[in-house]
Amino acid sequence: MTAGPLVEAQALTVAVPGQSRGFGRRIPRDIVRGVDLAVPRGGAVGLVGESGSGKTTLGRALVGLAPAAAGRVLFDGADLAAAKGPALRALRARMQMIFQDPQSALNPRLTIGTTLVRPLEAFGRLEGRRARRARAAELLDLVGLPGDALDRYPHELSGGQRQRIGIARAVALEPDFIVADEIVSGLDVSTQAQILLLLEDLRRRLGLTLVFISHDLSVVRVLCDEVVVLLRGEVVEAGPCAAVFDAPRHAYTAALLQAVPLPEIDPAWLDRPALAAHIPPLAASG
Ligand SMILES: Nc1ncnc2c1ncn2[C@@H]1O[C@H](COP(=O)(O)OP(=O)(O)OP(=O)(O)O)[C@@H](O)[C@H]1O
Ligand SMILES: [Mg+2]
Repeated sequence: MTAGPLVEAQALTVAVPGQSRGFGRRIPRDIVRGVDLAVPRGGAVGLVGESGSGKTTLGRALVGLAPAAAGRVLFDGADLAAAKGPALRALRARMQMIFQDPQSALNPRLTIGTTLVRPLEAFGRLEGRRARRARAAELLDLVGLPGDALDRYPHELSGGQRQRIGIARAVALEPDFIVADEIVSGLDVSTQAQILLLLEDLRRRLGLTLVFISHDLSVVRVLCDEVVVLLRGEVVEAGPCAAVFDAPRHAYTAALLQAVPLPEIDPAWLDRPALAAHIPPLAASG
């Protein structure tokens, strides 16, 4: 392990297939363009920007789910595009993405237990069904759900409970790095708060490095040390949250801030060290 950032994008460009021009020719379209960013070990970096600005695409590239068209992503000093075979597999286990909509991210036909055991099987962690099931139960406990949720199906759980499962699955392989993409949108405000506190708690307990994608700047301000502002796939502003939010240098950042009701957040949240004292009881059902 080296010093320096855990994850780094260098002049990163990510393309998606463009519209077909007939005869099946699809001209790629650059969605993320020349992005430089560094995520310090154990740090939390917020990624903000209007809808369609490329946040999800950049997040996918940072965990190796979308290839670089130009530039590169370094994970712990290793170029993701250069990793192959067992080295790539080992890297994959160390980075995870949690998606926006746990309803579609979870397979409706699988019990929660099966969903949580799958990554353990796929990566050959633990021997035998019993050990893996015990680990799945441990993961449920970690995210504040009762053990009997193992035999439930996603539709039997609330939205907040499903997102807890999404988080449990993401930490199953004990990753170092997580990209959380709009993980609380669509949940009611008190459930949002519980999920965010859970994430913050796990981040500290498991020593996770986090990229937190959100259109809600008030949440980014509370959870993240630094923020990166994307506009049409390019970084327009980046820096410590306090500096960027208190004195945005770019008009676009100022406009984003104006669109968000920052004062509505519970002021207690702004006191990050106090967060630990606010972690809800693990049995919370939200
Ligand atoms: N696989 C794909 N094929 C074609 N176009 C895509 C693909 N993925 C993303 N795009 C396009 O890339 C642009 C950026 O998408 P992206 O999902 O990264 O934005 P976003 O910032 O996450 O937006 P939102 O806030 O709505 O989630 C959009 O115009 C989107 O339509
Ligand atoms: Mg998105």
